[in-house]
Amino acid sequence: MIETQSKTTKVTSFKMMTRKMQQLMYLSLLCILASTQLSHTLAAQLDQSPAKLEQNPCMNKATCHECIQTQNCGWCMKADYGDRPRCFLNTPKPEICPEEFIYNPDTSESIRINKALTWDSSGAAAMSGGGQYISGGSYESSASRQSSSSGSYSASGSSSSYGSSSSSSSGFSANLGSQSAFAAAAAGEIVQIKPQRVSLKLRINEVHNLDVSYSQAVDYPVDLYYLMDLSKSMEDDKEKLSALGDKLSETMKGITSNFRLGFGSFVDKVLMPYVSTIPKKLEHPCDNCKAPYGYRNHMPLSNNTESFSTEVKQAAVSGNLDAPEGGFDAIMQAIACRQQVGWREQARRLLVFSTDAGFHYAGDGKLGGVITPNDGECHLNGEGMYTHSIIQDYPSISQINQKVKQNAINIIFAVTQNQYSVYQKLSGHIEGSSSAILSNDSSNVVDLVREEYSKISSTVEMKDNATGDVKITYYSSCLSNGPLTKTNKCSGLKVGDKVTFTANITVTKCPTDPKLWKQVIQIYPVGINESMIIDLEMLCSCPCEHPGSIGYEKHSTSCSKSGTLMCGICECDDLHFGNTCECSMSDVHLNNGNNNMCRQGNNTNAADCNGRGSCVCGACECKKRSNPEEIISGKYCECENFSCERNKNLLCSGPDHGICECNRCVCKPGWTGSSCDCQTSKDTCMPPNGGEICSGHGTCECGVCKCKSTDDGRYSGKYCDKCPTCSGRCHELKDCVQCQMYHTGELKNGDDCAKNCTTFTPVGVEKVKIDEDKDEQLCVFFDEDDCKFTFKYSEVGELVVHAQEEKECPPKVFMLGIVLGVIAAIVLVGLAILLLWKLLTTIHDRREFARFEKERMNAKWDTGENPIYKQATSTFKNPIYAGK
Ligand SMILES: *[C@@H]1O[C@H](CO)[C@@H](O)[C@H](O)[C@H]1NC(C)=O
Ligand SMILES: *[C@@H]1O[C@H](CO)[C@@H](O)[C@H](O)[C@H]1NC(C)=O
Ligand SMILES: *[C@@H]1O[C@H](CO)[C@@H](O)[C@H](O)[C@H]1NC(C)=O
Ligand SMILES: *[C@@H]1O[C@H](CO)[C@@H](O)[C@H](O)[C@H]1NC(C)=O
Ligand SMILES: *[C@@H]1O[C@H](CO)[C@@H](O)[C@H](O)[C@H]1NC(C)=O
Ligand SMILES: *[C@@H]1O[C@H](CO)[C@@H](O)[C@H](O)[C@H]1NC(C)=O
Ligand SMILES: *[C@@H]1O[C@H](CO)[C@@H](O)[C@H](O)[C@H]1NC(C)=O
Ligand SMILES: *[C@@H]1O[C@H](CO)[C@@H](O)[C@H](O)[C@H]1NC(C)=O
Repeated sequence: MIETQSKTTKVTSFKMMTRKMQQLMYLSLLCILASTQLSHTLAAQLDQSPAKLEQNPCMNKATCHECIQTQNCGWCMKADYGDRPRCFLNTPKPEICPEEFIYNPDTSESIRINKALTWDSSGAAAMSGGGQYISGGSYESSASRQSSSSGSYSASGSSSSYGSSSSSSSGFSANLGSQSAFAAAAAGEIVQIKPQRVSLKLRINEVHNLDVSYSQAVDYPVDLYYLMDLSKSMEDDKEKLSALGDKLSETMKGITSNFRLGFGSFVDKVLMPYVSTIPKKLEHPCDNCKAPYGYRNHMPLSNNTESFSTEVKQAAVSGNLDAPEGGFDAIMQAIACRQQVGWREQARRLLVFSTDAGFHYAGDGKLGGVITPNDGECHLNGEGMYTHSIIQDYPSISQINQKVKQNAINIIFAVTQNQYSVYQKLSGHIEGSSSAILSNDSSNVVDLVREEYSKISSTVEMKDNATGDVKITYYSSCLSNGPLTKTNKCSGLKVGDKVTFTANITVTKCPTDPKLWKQVIQIYPVGINESMIIDLEMLCSCPCEHPGSIGYEKHSTSCSKSGTLMCGICECDDLHFGNTCECSMSDVHLNNGNNNMCRQGNNTNAADCNGRGSCVCGACECKKRSNPEEIISGKYCECENFSCERNKNLLCSGPDHGICECNRCVCKPGWTGSSCDCQTSKDTCMPPNGGEICSGHGTCECGVCKCKSTDDGRYSGKYCDKCPTCSGRCHELKDCVQCQMYHTGELKNGDDCAKNCTTFTPVGVEKVKIDEDKDEQLCVFFDEDDCKFTFKYSEVGELVVHAQEEKECPPKVFMLGIVLGVIAAIVLVGLAILLLWKLLTTIHDRREFARFEKERMNAKWDTGENPIYKQATSTFKNPIYAGK
């Protein structure tokens, strides 16, 4: 009992052990897998790193400005730096290039003017109209992120002339900041965009992010100029507008207390074909109409909104001929005449353009003979009439767009239903404009203006005037707290809401014109005369390339006093050259005007000294090889005595055959060939039995026969003595073999055979077999009785012919038998066909007869009485006959 128990425990413990073993094995397997994977990734990383080194974009940059125009590259301007590339990707060790010699400017940003937003939803709002700003006039450099790696050099650079320009510009902006601050204090300036001025130094292709905040100020002034088409068809609209004038101004004053209203009207150019020029019509183009005119500013923008209604009422309707009107002239004047119309500098500017017709645009003036293009200037007389209406053409859409952008004006096209689609498209081409449907008597004008205004004021769209190589993209999360999305437009803003845009600014490449390396760029919200000014400086050149900076030294000792040291490189004067200007032109005698003495011919692509030496003052100094036996030589290091053709791994087949001179084998006497592997003597081409070289069927090249092929066939063999496909002497021997062996052929008659065949007597064999070694030729012919006979001959020494004793004849054919057989077969087949036919017809007949019989048997003739049959006798009864 006890024993069995212990047994079971033993068994279980064994089982457990095996299980543990299994687990262990799994674990170790996992470990191995993991480690192999790790080593793989490690290996991959190791593999990658040299590839990365190769892709180093800095390495091949030879000058400081090229270097810093490349992303992430820095320049070392240490004078004695050796042959290492000066443009580096990763900062080199201080012992190689101390920090003060490194020029690696970082993108830097410093905010020059940063007045607080007038209305900031973050709570710390400066009250509107107060004109408060955070600090005094010279608010500056609140955030200046200078690079750390630019180190002490850039610090000292600011005292140089290069740096002084930036310091003077900062002084200027500080000055500007104080000026605007004073202006703000006087006028109660409203700030809706922040910061206002930023200095940026940008590396090429490095993205810089700049935050711009916008918040709409409460009670922001609004200027609304109502520009109306006063052709006859708009008469009812005019009446309605005059009636609604008070309501309009009341509504707008509900939005902002600081509201101004103005009114202007237009008809068209007073010229045929726009307007009838019949004198009577010129005075009264229609009933109750006044004379036509181009544009008239009836009422400049003013806070006296009551006079709006009266002005509108007083304005007289006029008439014209063609459907489109001269609205563009009017828009241009209304915008260009800032003084006369009275646009305020700080206000939301709305221009409501109301019409029921299309518009003339640039080029249409030619119809009336007006060819002078529109100059975009203001031409109003004292009465507010447009004076150049018939002198200048209509403006183009892009002219209007440009003016609108310059003046931050929002045009609202309030047009009738039928014109809506046209003006909707037009508004797509004019920044900050929108279009809306006006009912045909203008009764909805108040709602329209209010809606469009709230649409305009609830969206903000950021634009900039960056051009060319400066790219700006905007990111914003608008009012949500979500992630940034790529957009320059936020909508649904309420007064006081603050949105922040992140502008990614990149300079894609340095403009070729150095004047463009400093630019002023403006980022502005569409329709608002406020902007953020960026003083952008592209980091396109190194200060050490300009006189007066550290690293720039004329007649430097490092350049043998014959050149200018610039950023560590020598720029030699006209008489010297070389890395340190150590070579003088007078030392080197120039031949054929080729000023690069270290390159062969005109090949400008080739490396100096063919890459096998260095150019020292116009002469090549060829590299030395580690093996002193191997020598590079030549004027351009073009020669080597170790790279000639090899034969059996011996240079020029070994010193016995030839030596290597300037990349070519020069052979010893008795040897030839590109690797001196050929003997010049032709002994080896002589057949051992004598005869011509290569048996006359080839040439002796390099001690070996090269056989030719002739029409007969191809010769082969060591001495071109074999020709399996050549017809050889078979034909010649045929007749004699035939007559001697079989007594047939052309020579069988008389003693021809004995006479003509004296050279040989064929030996009869049972079967002719070719022995390749003995150089035997096989000949096969057919006799006149179609029998095949075979013989062979060999010419080693004397002609020996072996012929087959018996001819191989085809078996005889019994011709008559075949003919008779064919005839018999034809007859038999015919008979068989006849018999078959007879059989078939007989069977057919039998069947027919059988059927007939059957039918006959089956036929039952009607045994009834024939209906037509009448008996020949007729019986009559005599009525008076009574007797029997
Ligand atoms: C209109 O503006 C003038 C100053 O330009 C001011 O004196 C006047 O009080 C203003 N009128 C109204 C009604 O706001
Ligand atoms: C915009 O405002 C500035 C001052 O803030 C002023 O100098 C400039 O003339 C204004 N521009 C327009 C088009 O009103
Ligand atoms: C306004 O236009 C509608 C159709 O578009 C027309 O039926 C109506 O008579 C017009 N009203 C006036 C006052 O012209
Ligand atoms: C632009 O800036 C945003 C915010 O910093 C950033 O997420 C985004 O990657 C940048 N875009 C580019 C193209 O660098
Ligand atoms: C952008 O606008 C500003 C201000 O109007 C101007 O000074 C600057 O020259 C403009 N920049 C470009 C590139 O047009
Ligand atoms: C070099 O160029 C000139 C003209 O371009 C030509 O006449 C001359 O033959 C060229 N020399 C060589 C070695 O190619
Ligand atoms: C190369 O030339 C040098 C000097 O002429 C000579 O000593 C050397 O043996 C040559 N090397 C070979 C491989 O021919
Ligand atoms: C045989 O030889 C003679 C002269 O040797 C010659 O004339 C004759 O044509 C030859 N016969 C044939 C069939 O070749």
